[in-house]
Amino acid sequence: MVTEVVKIENLTKHFPIVGGILQKTIGYVYAVNDVTMSVREGETHGLVGESGSGKTTVGRIIVKLTNPTSGRIIFDGEDITRVKGEALRNYRRKVQMVFQDPYASMNPRMTVKSALLEVMKIHSMHKGSEYEYATKLMERVGMSEEHLYRYPHELSGGQRQRVVIARALSVEPKFIVLDEPTASLDVSVQAQVLDLLKELQKQYSYSYLLITHNLAIIKYISHRTTVMYRGVWVETAPTQELFKNPQHPYTIALMSAVPVPDPTLRREKIILKGEPPNPIEKVVACPFQDRCPYVMDVCREKMPPDTDLGSEHLVRCWLRA
Ligand SMILES: Nc1ncnc2c1ncn2[C@@H]1O[C@H](COP(=O)(O)OP(=O)(O)OP(=O)(O)O)[C@@H](O)[C@H]1O
Ligand code: SF4
Ligand SMILES: [Mg+2]
Repeated sequence: MVTEVVKIENLTKHFPIVGGILQKTIGYVYAVNDVTMSVREGETHGLVGESGSGKTTVGRIIVKLTNPTSGRIIFDGEDITRVKGEALRNYRRKVQMVFQDPYASMNPRMTVKSALLEVMKIHSMHKGSEYEYATKLMERVGMSEEHLYRYPHELSGGQRQRVVIARALSVEPKFIVLDEPTASLDVSVQAQVLDLLKELQKQYSYSYLLITHNLAIIKYISHRTTVMYRGVWVETAPTQELFKNPQHPYTIALMSAVPVPDPTLRREKIILKGEPPNPIEKVVACPFQDRCPYVMDVCREKMPPDTDLGSEHLVRCWLRA
């Protein structure tokens, strides 16, 4: 049976823009607009889209670093959108987030050991055997006990990200948001960190939401993928299907830039015309209308419906409705 660990339903996040002498709300940044998706147990769900499309905001909402404007977050079958107090503390242990820049997420004055022990203490985990568990975690992420005594500046970029991953694992989470987890690393190190994440998932059935704009990473690691444009999900499918058979004009343009090994399958690269979207305008119809070569009148009037193409492939485009 397929178990959904996290499900988000009709999630929106509108950040108020404050201005004027009276510091009143003069508008909104419409960062996330009606996003619905789920992540299953032991699955990596990729979230792709250009800069500013709302990917990080979705991740931050799920781990409750920020509240949604509307919509629901379901975790293990329970609505946790408005949880507070002890229930919130409990939830915060079960979900973790790993950011792009490991150096920025570490305290430069703390050794790896102090950083790991501190998190375990906050969540009252592994009482009395914190050090043993820290040693075990280091091994799990491909490092050794000796690294526990290092400061962040004494580690390489790849090692720092391994420590950040170890810190996330120290509280035994079920679900981890990985926000561009390898973007700050050298290409050679990127693959090692991705392999580590894959291996950890195989052993411990973690569920990942992998946020990236790098389609090669998506292809390598994610089972299903959702494409976002201007805070709206426009297409979702099992990753292989999405690469083979993209249906939304934006996804088709994204995929056209991915090199394929078979020259007979080579697609012509599509250069998107027009300006990147402006997030301070409310999304009321197709978010891609200003850059779409196939735009029709209806695209400017109404949001395309969710079209189910079968085999878990869904798209939002009037051409496919
Ligand atoms: N705290 C905030 N206050 C106001 N606007 C915000 C805030 N956080 C994000 N935004 C805006 O919301 C939109 C979506 O931002 P977000 O960081 O989620 O995008 P992203 O897809 O992760 O982009 P990138 O690929 O560059 O990381 C952007 O226009 C951004 O400027
Ligand atoms: S709904 Fe219309 S504008 Fe939007 S992607 Fe489809 S064809 Fe293009
Ligand atoms: Mg981001």
